[in-house]
Amino acid sequence: MTRPRVEWARWAGDLAGPRFAEFQTQLAGHNAHRFRPGLPEEAASDELATDERVGRAEIEMVEALRCAVAPLIAEIPTEPDGFIAWFEQLKHTGPGQGDPLFPWLATTASIEQMRWFLFQEVAGEAGFEDLLAMTQVKMPVQAKLEMARNFWDEMGRGSEKGMHGPMLERLAGFFQLSPTPETVVPEALALGNTMIALARHRRYAFHSVGALGVIEMTAPGRAALVDAALRRLRIPAKKRLYFAVHAVLDVKHSEAWNAEVLHSLVAEDPRRARAIGEGAVIRLWHGARSFERYRCELGSFKARLLDTSCLAAA
Ligand SMILES: [Fe+2]
Ligand SMILES: [Fe+2]
Repeated sequence: MTRPRVEWARWAGDLAGPRFAEFQTQLAGHNAHRFRPGLPEEAASDELATDERVGRAEIEMVEALRCAVAPLIAEIPTEPDGFIAWFEQLKHTGPGQGDPLFPWLATTASIEQMRWFLFQEVAGEAGFEDLLAMTQVKMPVQAKLEMARNFWDEMGRGSEKGMHGPMLERLAGFFQLSPTPETVVPEALALGNTMIALARHRRYAFHSVGALGVIEMTAPGRAALVDAALRRLRIPAKKRLYFAVHAVLDVKHSEAWNAEVLHSLVAEDPRRARAIGEGAVIRLWHGARSFERYRCELGSFKARLLDTSCLAAA
């Protein structure tokens, strides 16, 4: 019997330490190729065995994350209005909200530090439009319509210039960023890997809805501060459009997502409240860990400069 070659998959449940780093690096490498359109003759002979092994590992990873965030979603309301109120307070009290990294970027970071930060962020970005496309499959009509409107905005409403993905690529090109999984901190890789796992496994479809919705809700504040940092560093307006656009547009996206997607899905089946809430908190939890690691690596705070725990955890 031949054994699948993805030995790293057995470390899926580790959420810290060297095995966590190895797993996330390998999974990010795998994710970089897996969704590329292909041809039958290009398919590897062990493709299905690898898919199965990786799929199981992703589920193990998400289950470990669900356990980790369980205390944060203990009191989740299942009635739609109460649930939306609970979801909206995540903006203020969720993991990573108000992290001091972002005001520091806006006011103090050097161009090299900003470049390092963007290098990590670009790598952790799994492509909102593709995550959304995978998530919306077979969703009820009201939710799907709002997802379609959101997707159309991601697509620049049919104009290449307005597409969000290429906007980020233009900024990455300006800074000459070409991150590979080996050159990015595992916390940032884990964030992107988790978004993909949630979007690709239908058992986590509502987790993915929550994770995407919480991005829309929490991105504007951070995007405005990153945009302020880029402006302060005199990055041309055309190159920093990605953050300038998201600082404004995602406020509207978030309002519509909560009203049209979250409310209708929970009204139809209250069990979805827990799944949506878990997905949102898992996404924020990853964000919080990434910001902490970034601060550590950037040595942005005096206390942190003396704190080597980030290196020990790597
Ligand atoms: Fe976007
Ligand atoms: Fe958006």
